[in-house]
Amino acid sequence: MTRTVHLITGGAGFIGSNLVGRLLDMGDGVVAIDNLCRGRAEFVAKYSAHPNFRFFELDSSDVAALRSVLTPDRLPGPITEVWHMAANSDIPAGVADPGIDLRDTFLTTFAILGFMKEAGVPVIRFASSSAIYGDFKDTPIHENLGPLEPISNYGAMKLASEGQIRAAVEAYLQRADIFRFPNVVGVPATHGIIIDLVRKCLQNPKGFEVLGDGTQQKVYLHCDDLLNAMLFIRANATGRYNVFNIASGDDGITVREIAEAVRDRTNPASEIYYGKGNKGWVGDVPRFRYQIGRLAQLGFEPSMGSAQAVRKAVDEIVRQETSK
Ligand SMILES: NC(=O)c1ccc[n+]([C@@H]2O[C@H](COP(=O)([O-])OP(=O)(O)OC[C@H]3O[C@@H](n4cnc5c(N)ncnc54)[C@H](O)[C@@H]3O)[C@@H](O)[C@H]2O)c1
Repeated sequence: MTRTVHLITGGAGFIGSNLVGRLLDMGDGVVAIDNLCRGRAEFVAKYSAHPNFRFFELDSSDVAALRSVLTPDRLPGPITEVWHMAANSDIPAGVADPGIDLRDTFLTTFAILGFMKEAGVPVIRFASSSAIYGDFKDTPIHENLGPLEPISNYGAMKLASEGQIRAAVEAYLQRADIFRFPNVVGVPATHGIIIDLVRKCLQNPKGFEVLGDGTQQKVYLHCDDLLNAMLFIRANATGRYNVFNIASGDDGITVREIAEAVRDRTNPASEIYYGKGNKGWVGDVPRFRYQIGRLAQLGFEPSMGSAQAVRKAVDEIVRQETSK
């Protein structure tokens, strides 16, 4: 029987490093690559002695580097599937410099597909995003809603990546799973609203600022549920090209509620200072919620809704930040 060996790009990031642990627990081989621009080697250091694990500091947008480093003698076996998690996860950074999204979000997809074609790896699973849809305001978003008009470079490069993957399925891949994540929370946290607010509140216990007026309302998913959902889709979807919104089907949680949860857990006496307007930054989608009928029909339901996921993550992130 062929051994399963996963290649995870962005494997030293928040979601990628959690995925490493889950796949090793399944007894599979795991090769993680990351250029450490936003991830940290320490997130996967605990697996370094694991016989089924390899880590390489490598730029996923450099197909020549992928080809020269990921040689059979260095791997626990031939790679059988790729989890493409590498991307620019900092949306405002991509507003200031769109080259970041081009390189880390799109060209990583382009290079990984080129590498897969050469190496004969048949399956890709891709971390896409709600950002590909653009701003549908209060309309619950289902997978076939259109037109797709992303309002950030990040969303544009994720959408372009989906298109590249779809074309690769037509030409040479056996299967692709497109996972459209909402906001994903948990630890090790490196970015996102919760860690920003926790750090601000710890630094200045008197009060902290929130980007925007606090009315932004979005869907949040805990990383544990995300991993369960992706593995469920991997095991149960039967198509060659599978596109799934992954989230709970609730209305989401507001920035005000998140700020209050951080304050209550960190320093209940803190003031919260709100900004103006319902966008935290250029390219921020102020409201979104998902229709998750496709995922439910497949038989998966997340264990936590948005509010519960946020509360759990606030607790985990406060512990992360206060135990340093
Ligand atoms: N966290 C979320 O809320 C969320 C929401 C939607 C989609 N996603 C997607 O999920 C994936 C993982 O996100 P995350 O939250 O773990 O972010 P993250 O920044 O922690 O992880 C991304 C990793 O990719 C690495 N990376 C970036 N460019 C690279 C390159 N050129 N070569 C090699 N490595 C590179 C970074 O160093 C980082 O470790 C990303 O594709 C992200 O766009 C995340």
